[in-house]
Amino acid sequence: MMLRLVLLWALIGLSLQICEPSTCKIPNCRCFNDATAPGDLPKSEIPQIVMVSFEGTINYDNINNYRQIFASVSNPNNCPARGTFFIQDVGSDYKLISSLRIEGHEIGVFSVNGIAPTNSTGWIDAIKQVRAELESVGINLNDVKGVRAPELAYGGTGELIGVATNGMLYDSSCSSAAFSDSNTYLWPYTFDYLPTGSCDNGKQTTYTFPGKWEVPVADLHDISGDKLPCSFPSACRNITSKRDAFDLFFNAFSDHYNGRRTPFLMIIDPAWAADKNKRDGTAEFLQYTRAVFGDNVWIVTIAQALQWVQEPVPVSVAKTFVPWQCN
Ligand SMILES: *[C@@H]1O[C@H](CO)[C@@H](O)[C@H](O)[C@H]1NC(C)=O
Ligand SMILES: *[C@@H]1O[C@H](CO)[C@@H](O)[C@H](O)[C@H]1NC(C)=O
Repeated sequence: MMLRLVLLWALIGLSLQICEPSTCKIPNCRCFNDATAPGDLPKSEIPQIVMVSFEGTINYDNINNYRQIFASVSNPNNCPARGTFFIQDVGSDYKLISSLRIEGHEIGVFSVNGIAPTNSTGWIDAIKQVRAELESVGINLNDVKGVRAPELAYGGTGELIGVATNGMLYDSSCSSAAFSDSNTYLWPYTFDYLPTGSCDNGKQTTYTFPGKWEVPVADLHDISGDKLPCSFPSACRNITSKRDAFDLFFNAFSDHYNGRRTPFLMIIDPAWAADKNKRDGTAEFLQYTRAVFGDNVWIVTIAQALQWVQEPVPVSVAKTFVPWQCN
């Protein structure tokens, strides 16, 4: 009952207003279509953020594949490159998840069994269940902030009720071919105002959720032929060699770097990481961008990327940015 009243208030109170960047300001609000960089930084002062995300189970079959992707990649401040793991409960070994967290990776919630809930109650319960398991192995729930929906089937209002009810901060499941080129990539945005960009898969958000963030999923593009968009690397066609995998990511990275320098989000699914060529091409891409673009490239977790969006600092002083220190 309480929740319904709060939601009703949010709907009436805010959703009919157009989002204005002059009133919707960081750290806790950002319009979905605001093309200016956080802090109005000029492009040369924006660190190119790269976020590597994973989803599904963590167990002895796959954890070393994932660790290999980060092996010997560090950031300009000499901290190791780190990623975000969205956890599926069934099939995971929580001791291994705890060790990923201790190594400095971010832990988020994916699902109970790989199937997306269909209503708000289902989302609330699924997120709660995975969080309880994470807590049972000593993971601080204040650090568990994000949700990724199975199949990138963004759950709209029902999912965001699950996010908000569990005290979490963001979703990262909204993929869109419409915002997947150098001129259209989006910065992360909040759900203070509607409408936001619509997602290619899943549902719409019909209520506002002030202060809750979307970290959008831009599509990649096939490396040959008609360069059709593909949201998961595994869904992109004709990727077989290490070089193919490298090119797939490097092309998209270049579009971000030469475009608005919005954060570049990578999705690594278990099948991709299990393939040696694709895994090696991914690792080589990370090593190469750090080597060639030097202090301009930062490989951080989604939560760390959001901290920068909320409190941006120029790339010239990013080495002392507190949220990007080693933990
Ligand atoms: C909500 O979804 C769950 C599974 O996600 C299902 O078991 C339940 O019946 C649904 N409830 C309603 C009211 O549709
Ligand atoms: C994939 O490779 C095949 C065989 O080389 C080729 O005929 C096809 O056009 C390629 N598709 C794309 C999307 O590049």
